[in-house]
Amino acid sequence: MKTLIRNGRIVTAVDDYKADVLIEDGVVSVIGARLDIEAERVIDAEGKLVIPGGIDPHTHMELPFGGTQASDDFFTGTRAAAYGGTTTIIDFAVQYKGESLTEALDNWHAKAEGKTAIDYSFHLITTELEDDRVPELHRIIDEGVTSFKMFMAYPGVFLVDDATIFRAMSAAGERGGLICMHAENGVVINEIIKRALAAGRTAPKYHALTRPTRAEAEGVHRAIAIAEMAEAPVYIVHLSCADALEQVRAARDRGLPAFAETCPQYLFLSYDNYEEPGFEGAKYVMTPPLREKWNQAELWKGLKTDDLQVISTDHCPFCMKEQKELGRDDFSKIPNGAPGVEHRVPLIYNGGVVENKISLNRFVELTSTAAAKMFGLFPRKGTIAVGSDADIVIFDPEREQTISAATHHMNVDYSAYEGKTIRGVVEMVLSRGRVVIENGEYKGKAGDGRFLKRGTCVTM
Ligand code: URP
Ligand code: ZN
Ligand code: ZN
Repeated sequence: MKTLIRNGRIVTAVDDYKADVLIEDGVVSVIGARLDIEAERVIDAEGKLVIPGGIDPHTHMELPFGGTQASDDFFTGTRAAAYGGTTTIIDFAVQYKGESLTEALDNWHAKAEGKTAIDYSFHLITTELEDDRVPELHRIIDEGVTSFKMFMAYPGVFLVDDATIFRAMSAAGERGGLICMHAENGVVINEIIKRALAAGRTAPKYHALTRPTRAEAEGVHRAIAIAEMAEAPVYIVHLSCADALEQVRAARDRGLPAFAETCPQYLFLSYDNYEEPGFEGAKYVMTPPLREKWNQAELWKGLKTDDLQVISTDHCPFCMKEQKELGRDDFSKIPNGAPGVEHRVPLIYNGGVVENKISLNRFVELTSTAAAKMFGLFPRKGTIAVGSDADIVIFDPEREQTISAATHHMNVDYSAYEGKTIRGVVEMVLSRGRVVIENGEYKGKAGDGRFLKRGTCVTM
């Protein structure tokens, strides 16, 4: 099967030119000006950007959390991702206490297999790692799961102590693996939460007010220091504020392999959202919480200077009805997380490129290429080049859309961006050469996505 995309403006992390793209058997085979080649399907991309499919390296489909589970499953969540121009996700398998790493991965393979609309991979949330498990961790890296998430937050659930973090960083580092860190001092935060509840402070806004930026900055500082002692790289997930960013910047200035991602919610939403009337603030209960608005400019600065390398979503949706409601009388019982996988690419185009904060090339780098390099998928994913998978988005840079729960495709009853009008619309999406989104319609089927074995980070 040959597909030819004609007349588009191809934009990668480094290129920007007009050319045609020929796709054969799911892979880009020829790129050139005015290709004189017959194809079964010809797509006219005149006036459109032709960009690599987005890579969202931080999603939680079907994640069990706080007595419920994330409302998007691996089908609805990956289909919504495709609608928004994302063609690869890296989700998180969870090792619960007492389980082997292999059991955890098997459980998550069983959840996702045959369901996804786009390609996917897993990081492995590691909650226990004694010395005798290190060979298993090495084997898992060799088999293509090359990154792990550890938590300094959520005592009694996911939190691991510093010894375990050091052990995991050393073990992963020896094999080229990468530890992704949820960096917040959850032990101190829990004490602050106890005090707030004892004082009768139960509204959603207290989720934010009990998680100070210092708790995140301390976590980031400690994660980087432990990584330095373990002689390993570290990747800070969902970095939310200037205080934490300062720690990453200082480490990078010292030449350390410290990396970080931020998410659209920290760039476009703020603490003010928690002040919305009634229980509305629950929509934004996520961890780390939204911060004071002035942090946004600092995060954009970090994205510009490459102290932040990646934009993910941390997509972890819970419906207001029956899920967020679990914490109506106690903010600490509101399931943590918010939806976002569908709008990351157009939101960053609008807020970054249209609003003159980043270049078009940097937009592609932040939403696709950098994650591919960080997580061992490049150049198969993350670019448009001969030999790369034909994961391609045809993007209208001029058309506008208004985000709403009434029209989005995520399985959740609200949008954190309700009513926001943005410039930039995903017109067509190809996943390994197959058209999966066309004219606002999903053309694929559950199970089209493949599990991706990954290599190691090529960013260092
Ligand atoms: O609130 C969040 N971020 N929920 C998902 C779990 C996590 O910590 O990433
Ligand atoms: Zn986290
Ligand atoms: Zn997360």
